[in-house]
Amino acid sequence: MAARQIVPDVYSVGVIDWDRAVFDELMELSDGTSYNAYVVRGSEKTALIDTVDPAFEETYISNLVRAELTSVDYIVVNHAEQDHSGSLPLALELFPHAKVVTTEKGRDLCCSLHHVLPERFMVVGDGDTLSLGNKTLTFMSTPWVHWPETMMTYLEEDKILFSCDLFGAHIASSALYAEDSSRFWMEARQYYAEIMQPFRSKVREYTGRVRSLGPAMIAPSHGPIHRTPSGILDAYEGWSSDEVKNLVLIPYVSMHGSTREMVDRLVDLLIERGIEVRPYDLGRVGTGAIAYDLVDAATIIIGAPTMLFGPHPKAAHLAFITNLLKPKAKWIGVIGSYGWGGKTVEDLTGMLCKVDAEMLEPVYIKGKSDEETNIAIARLAAEIYKRHQDHSLV
Ligand code: FEO
Repeated sequence: MAARQIVPDVYSVGVIDWDRAVFDELMELSDGTSYNAYVVRGSEKTALIDTVDPAFEETYISNLVRAELTSVDYIVVNHAEQDHSGSLPLALELFPHAKVVTTEKGRDLCCSLHHVLPERFMVVGDGDTLSLGNKTLTFMSTPWVHWPETMMTYLEEDKILFSCDLFGAHIASSALYAEDSSRFWMEARQYYAEIMQPFRSKVREYTGRVRSLGPAMIAPSHGPIHRTPSGILDAYEGWSSDEVKNLVLIPYVSMHGSTREMVDRLVDLLIERGIEVRPYDLGRVGTGAIAYDLVDAATIIIGAPTMLFGPHPKAAHLAFITNLLKPKAKWIGVIGSYGWGGKTVEDLTGMLCKVDAEMLEPVYIKGKSDEETNIAIARLAAEIYKRHQDHSLV
């Protein structure tokens, strides 16, 4: 891939990973990704902003050559995760006088992950600046987007914010700049759902800070550059807000049809009440699609039969992932069926302890549903409706 100029003396030198299908051995990628990195050449000094995944370090170095880079004074590490810092050891070998510019926690992580020697670092904090001559870098401490050491780097003169993971998207594309397309917005939201959603309050805070900064461009470390930052900032404000939609998600698994019967009944009753419902058969639908909808659903009802002594593992997996993502749903519940016993409701409730939502009365029955079950499901639908109505969602 070629090095591409963004503005005079600022280049994109990252790589496109067209084939990556899964991230962190968990998130499925439908459209590959990119590991973006940048060069800022000042009148006196030159800085690299981030490196790339180690699988692509040769391409990265080739891009630096194409950008006609002969010396590097600083390598800024906005984020120590290996998809951005993995080529740091090679870059440090090639540029033996370069200093690694990062936060204190970034230094600790680079030392432990890459065995970089402590004397190679220049530790920076919030508001610190670094002059490259006619260009100035200002560092913004922004922990927890996505790890505790994360920071962003602002190029003052060109008003370009290098935001690392924040505002990114897993998209492999030859287009350098974001397009206002359904493909882009779907991938940007999926990325937010799976990577940024757990840090919603931090994301909201930093989005406001970036809005006040007024960058001309936001250049993240995955996906395209935002030449009109208001679009992605508007989206992030909405996703990270406390606002929820009149939407009930029902991820479920059913071994012999009893839980499915309860799900079908609840779906019908919610539709009758004007509530949008999305049932997901966990035997067919991956967690990525559910994570996407967790961004703004008001209510989550998990349908889970008991397998042996606790929840079916597919429901347990979904509950575990939901707990990690910490969605902003206001209400959550469990429905399902058991054969002879078990602790499914207690287990699932415990697995969801980090979701700050009101737990609705579970409907958990022995065997196949009957008239009493139907009444309990109708009561649950009425409770959901009442809560949505009280919050002016219906
Ligand atoms: Fe793209 Fe958190 O690394």
